Amino acid sequence: MGIECVLKITNLFKSYGRKDVLCGLNMNLNKGECIGIVGKNGPGKTTILEIIDGLLMNYGGQVDLHGNNVSALIDSPVFFSEFTERDNI
Ligand SMILES: Nc1ncnc2c1ncn2[C@@H]1O[C@H](COP(=O)(O)OP(=O)(O)O)[C@@H](O)[C@H]1O
Ligand SMILES: [Mg+2]
Repeated sequence: MGIECVLKITNLFKSYGRKDVLCGLNMNLNKGECIGIVGKNGPGKTTILEIIDGLLMNYGGQVDLHGNNVSALIDSPVFFSEFTERDNI
């Protein structure tokens, strides 16, 4: 059995008005993987997670979810700060 891809993001584009935030993002997540997206304020981390969770619909590119077992933990609507990231998921 090979590596199973559960999330494939291809050429993702997102703008808010005239502000381009995501410009051709590619990303794969394999079964069993847990990743965090880190960076300074403003480059689009929350936007990526909102798209994965289906909270933002108007974007360009492709987001393929295989199965129902991909969770993206974002700063809202719910994050329990007293729990670990894994417990929050
Ligand atoms: N609803 C929105 N309307 C306009 N601009 C937004 C909106 N949401 C986010 N942005 C802008 O898009 C950029 C990326 O935001 P965000 O995804 O929250 O970044 P991060 O989570 O990496 O700090 C920021 O410049 C932010 O100001
Ligand atoms: Mg954020």
